[in-house]
Amino acid sequence: MNIAVIGTGYVGLVTGTCLAETGNNVICVDIVEEKVQKMKDGVMPIYEPGLDILFNRNIAQGRLSFTTNLAEAIENAQIIFLALPTPPGGDGRADLSYVLGAAKDIAEIVKDYKVIVTKSTVPVGTADKVKEVFRENTLVEVDVVSNPEFLREGVAVEDFMKPDRVVVGASGERARALMGELYAPYVRSGNPIIFMDERSSEMTKYAANSFLATKITFMNEIANLCELVGADVDMVRIGVGSDARIGKRFLFPGIGYGGSCFPKDVQALALSAEEYQYDFKILKSVMDVNQNQKIKIVEKIKQYYKSDLSGKHFALWGLAFKPETDDIREAPALYIIDELVKAGAKITAYDPEAVDNVRRVIGDKINYAEDPYTALQGADALIIATEWQLFRNPDFKKMEDNLKAKVVFDGRNLYELQKMIDLGFYYNSIGRKVIEA
Ligand code: UDX
Repeated sequence: MNIAVIGTGYVGLVTGTCLAETGNNVICVDIVEEKVQKMKDGVMPIYEPGLDILFNRNIAQGRLSFTTNLAEAIENAQIIFLALPTPPGGDGRADLSYVLGAAKDIAEIVKDYKVIVTKSTVPVGTADKVKEVFRENTLVEVDVVSNPEFLREGVAVEDFMKPDRVVVGASGERARALMGELYAPYVRSGNPIIFMDERSSEMTKYAANSFLATKITFMNEIANLCELVGADVDMVRIGVGSDARIGKRFLFPGIGYGGSCFPKDVQALALSAEEYQYDFKILKSVMDVNQNQKIKIVEKIKQYYKSDLSGKHFALWGLAFKPETDDIREAPALYIIDELVKAGAKITAYDPEAVDNVRRVIGDKINYAEDPYTALQGADALIIATEWQLFRNPDFKKMEDNLKAKVVFDGRNLYELQKMIDLGFYYNSIGRKVIEA
């Protein structure tokens, strides 16, 4: 099929590339000329494991191309994906100006039937707004479809190629048939394409992300309580998760969820509930608890040093909001840095991918190390904020040699308690017994 993807951000690039991989002809459109030129030259603008291989292969084989010319991109396209930013506006609600602006631009030049797909996470009712834009600006018949993405950063290619499900919110039969045909190669394993109306589809995305954020937050509160009652949250997690109704995934306690989706989507859903005079109490608590969870580790650190952090030097392992990404949006590490620096501490951080992004945001507020062990040199303690694989099995001898004191605050529960006892570390993790040196 011929596909156009408007917007080459994270979602647009993954969508365009993965759609080309199954044999579709995909043209991606962006207004930034320099970015388009770079992509034409095979330069991938984002970091996402495995995507660059597909990206270069499909460009080389002529199925994936880039342009700044909207008319050229949509002329032969049967399906047009809108993968544009929907940043929170001043009032916290999603700003739809990019999506509706692109819809208007398309409406003014469209010549024949198209399926217009909203791929970005958009508030319930957006598909109807897009339809309205087309009704006002063209006589050409189009169908507007909601098709939310459920891509996790770091495993987005796998999530796209083998989705648990594809959700398609479409009222028209013609659009449903085309979307069904497009996604058939991705659901060969038997996972469903679930057709529904547009509003239910838009709500599905918010409900899924808010539920997952709630699940994590619930476990974070259980972890906090485990610390008080002397239980081990890792045992509790396995005990609870073995119930198939609950499931083992997404039960890992930590220093709060971050990223570009969960915080934004939970807030957006709570706000749209408010718009309909519905008091969504759980979501409000989730946001509140998560905010506290991000800096709870700082309270532990302060407690350990009897509230005096001035002149203390901390090594920080991990800056990205999660492993396998350079994304630092709403990363708990940034909140931890902020609190520690405010308290007069000095930080040397190491992250395999996210240092450039952090430097851009906070500059020289902290020091950056080239490798994990250099970060430890002369530090009073190590703080772990992201569970990169590299940190899971470190050289503890080297850790001990570089640190000034054998003290670890672990926000991701990377190490066995017994191991830390044997090594003689002070080890403070989440929802587990504190190991005294
Ligand atoms: C998420 C959704 O998973 C995806 O379906 C949606 O389309 C976009 O948002 P992503 O933001 O890439 O994807 O991250 P995800 O892997 O879901 O993790 C989100 C946050 O939750 C991270 O900060 C992570 O550290 C945290 N998390 C996740 C936990 O604290 N515990 C867990 O058990 C799982």
